[in-house]
This record gives sequence, structure tokens and C-alpha cells, in this order.
Amino acid sequence: MATAMNDMTTAAEPVDLLAKFDPIIQTREQLLAAGVEDPFNLVMEQVLSPTRAICNGRDTILLGTYNYMGMTFDDDVIAAGKQAMEDFGAGTTGSRVLNGTFRDHRDVEAALRDFYAMDHAMVFSTGYQANLGIISTLAGKGDYIILDIDSHASIWDGCAMGNAEVVPFKHNDVEALEKRLKRIPEGAGKLVVLEGVYSMMGDVAPLKDMVRIAKENGAMVLVDEAHSMGFIGEHGRGVAEEQGVLDDVDFIIGTFSKSVGTVGGFCVSNHPKFEVLRLVCRPYVFTAALPPSVMASSATSIRKLMHGGNKRAHLWENSRTLHKGLRDLGFQLGTETPQSAIIAVIMPELEKGAMMWEALLKEGLYVNLARPPATPAGMTLLRCSLCAEHSAEQVQTILGMFERAGKAIGII
Ligand SMILES: Cc1ncc(COP(=O)(O)O)c(C=O)c1O
Repeated sequence: MATAMNDMTTAAEPVDLLAKFDPIIQTREQLLAAGVEDPFNLVMEQVLSPTRAICNGRDTILLGTYNYMGMTFDDDVIAAGKQAMEDFGAGTTGSRVLNGTFRDHRDVEAALRDFYAMDHAMVFSTGYQANLGIISTLAGKGDYIILDIDSHASIWDGCAMGNAEVVPFKHNDVEALEKRLKRIPEGAGKLVVLEGVYSMMGDVAPLKDMVRIAKENGAMVLVDEAHSMGFIGEHGRGVAEEQGVLDDVDFIIGTFSKSVGTVGGFCVSNHPKFEVLRLVCRPYVFTAALPPSVMASSATSIRKLMHGGNKRAHLWENSRTLHKGLRDLGFQLGTETPQSAIIAVIMPELEKGAMMWEALLKEGLYVNLARPPATPAGMTLLRCSLCAEHSAEQVQTILGMFERAGKAIGII
């Protein structure tokens, strides 16, 4: 009679489901074998301010945190969070549709409605979940999603989770969008998904033309303003505000993890039936609501951002100075002109990019190293994101660091 042990020895070898990641493991090992510090394993040992942290025991300027408006250390934002934690406890332990809606969840949604001057706001646990939930819920079987090929992973994942037909078009190409729209069968539901600022290259979408074309072709429009909320537009409502098309956009998606300085995601809309989404959107229903401290901090931050005109002006100044300075030094940049608070520095290849990243870190500067599949066209990028709290002196210091590191690595 076969024993359990015998059964085990005769069992077939399992197929290693991690084997498909071998090329990634090899690339990483090659990089580390070249003596480069692991760019994807950095620890912030202490965070001193929105623009400074201790990394590897070194005082480091932060130029890759998307903390655009520097709200993470705002006194009022911190005080509101502390008070809510005292009053409501550390967490919600429940979904928004059960026990997870506290006073501050309602309040942050009210703050968002005021910020955008829109009728409805729905808060998710992250921006990733906001895209996942809204896109997969809006566009179902028989519908079409027409999206920019360089869309963020959360947009693609929202498409993958739903059952709609997915039709990508060439990045920021108005004619390509129009051609795709014209080929879609008449009468089908259509959702055009765009971003205000594309986070890899820091370039802005031609929303004015794209929204017009979408509307002419009977499509609804969703714009992800993750990298523009708080900064771009007169009131910081994003690229749709800046280009005068906010009223024609059906759904705006955003995140609290950038300008707001906390964590969370949202969708705002004027659609009269919007509230039904709270009942049918799975990434909203089947997950715990954010802690009340995060909600209170976020609401305070959003209300302060409504009066952030001076900060926005200073951030533009920083972006212009860094862009010009890097160009003058001879670096190749992702955009001809500064279009947002993101400046992408194009590296010749991954190894040089990693060496440059490390050289900057040793100078005392942190930027993001980005590589495929996150980047378009297989590029390796050093992505810089500026903060309204960077001083003019810090920007000059940053340029000096780029000059020394770029010359040492042989990129300029
Ligand atoms: C365009 C875009 N959308 C959504 C997200 C997701 O935001 P969150 O960090 O809140 O999940 C990001 C984050 O990087 C993003 O760049």
C-alpha cells in the first residue's frame, strides 16, 4: 500500500511560477554585480522636511517624491490628523458601505466638491484603486475604452478588470484618437481616458482638442489629473481647468499621494447618477476605508490648496529654472519646455542611468530611476519632481550636483 510519503516522491515537479521573472532577476543581479547601489531599495532613515531626508546616513535633497505642494509637513495638516486619531482611533476596520464611513470621510468628500466646484466626490483608498474601480465599473461588456498608449498602469489595470473593448491610440496624438473613435460601432458606449500630465516624461495632454473630439463622437471623458491637481490651473484643478475644458470632462480622477501629501484616491463628477457607483464599484466596496487621521489631514490639505496661488507660482519658477539649467548643462530632457513639475532626464541606457542615479545620491540628491516597462519606448529616465518648498538656492545646489555627477559618469 502506498504511503503518503511515496505519493509525495512520485508527484510531478511543480512548474515554478516565478521562472518567468528570471530575466528581471538577471538584469538586477548584473546591475548590482557592477557595484551599483540598488536603486529600488532605498530607505528614508529620517525625513526632515518635504525636501530633505537622511538616506544612507547622508543629508539628501529630495527631488523625486511627487510632493509637489510640500503639504506633508504642513502644521495644520499634521494637527488635523493627530486630532482625528485621538477622537476616532487608528483605523476604520471596515468598508465605506458598512462601518467605514466616519465624519472625516464625508468631510474630505465635501472638501473635494468645493475644490473642484463639482456635485459629487467619492474617495478611494488609493488613486490606483480609483482608476481600477471607476474605469472597470463604467465600461462593461459591449462598451469601448479609448486610451492613450502611455497611460498609467492603474488605467490599464482598470481596463483589464472590466469587460470592455480596449482601443489604445498613439501618445498625445489628436488625429489618432479621432480615427479610433470613428471606427467604433455606432450606438456603443465609449469612454475616452486621458491624463492631464503624463508622469514619465512630464508632458501635458492636448485636452482642449481631445475633449472636443471625444464629445463630437459621442464619448464620455475621464481625465486622470494625478500629477496636475493642486498645481496646474488657476485654482489648481488641473490641466482640464488650465485648458478651459473642465465642464466638458465627465469624470476627474486624482490622488492624495502627490500634491495633497497624504494617501488616497478620488473621483469627482457632475453626473447626476454618480452616487450609484458607491454601490457597484468593487474596489470601493470590498476594501477597508482609509483611517480617519488620513481623511482629516487630506481635507485640511485640500482646503489649503484652494488658496495655494503663491506656492503654485513658486513651483513654476522652480520647474523653469531646473529645466533651463539642465538643458544648458547639456542633458537631454523629456520635454522641450517645462510643462509640469516633472522633468525627465533621458539616460543613454540602464547601466549609465543607474550609475548616474548613484552618483547623484552620493552628492546628496535623490531622484527616481525609471526603466521599462514603466517608461515609454524602452527609455531609462532620471525623473525629477519639484516641490513648492524647494528654495531657489536648493535648485541651484541641485544643478551643481547634476553637473558634477554628469561629468563624472560621462553623460555631459
Ligand atoms: C497618473 C497616475 N494615476 C494614478 C496613480 C496612482 O496613485 P496612488 O499613488 O494614489 O495609488 C498614479 C501614481 O503614481 C499616477 O501617476
